Amino acid sequence: MNIRPKVASAINDQIEKEFYSYYLYLSMAAHFESNNLKGFGHWLRVQAKEEAEHAMKLYDYLISRGGKVVLKSIEAPPNEWKSYKDLFEDAYKHEQKVTGLITKLVELAKRESDHATEVFLQWFVKEQVEEEANAQEVLHKITLVGTQGGALFFLDSELGKRQSS
Ligand SMILES: [Fe+2]
Ligand SMILES: [Fe+2]
Repeated sequence: MNIRPKVASAINDQIEKEFYSYYLYLSMAAHFESNNLKGFGHWLRVQAKEEAEHAMKLYDYLISRGGKVVLKSIEAPPNEWKSYKDLFEDAYKHEQKVTGLITKLVELAKRESDHATEVFLQWFVKEQVEEEANAQEVLHKITLVGTQGGALFFLDSELGKRQSS
């Protein structure tokens, strides 16, 4: 059975949110790379790439259910932050917001008795637990580091080791 228009439209909204996440993390990566903190830049680029993959997962699903993919314009992300800690606070808050959006999507699928979508979304439910934990972990570390140069360089080289999924 083809996907209902209401659910399809909500998935299209989520595709836009995932591409916005891609944009946001890319902007954050650029911020660090401009300041020669390439390890942070790498970590954020890997994160950005994952977000584009999330968008494509939703895109593929929508097509497999006979839905129409409707791409929307992507809002410009911020490009300046008061501090690195502020930047990761934004990242963490953003992931919490996305978790809320996924929860709403699951609720909609339930209301519409769309079990296939409900099952499909479980991957995103689990992924968001990881996404929040990852952002929170870096936020904790950057909070500890503060403005200590030595510790910042150490954290930079640690984050530079993040593997691409
Ligand atoms: Fe995502
Ligand atoms: Fe995310």
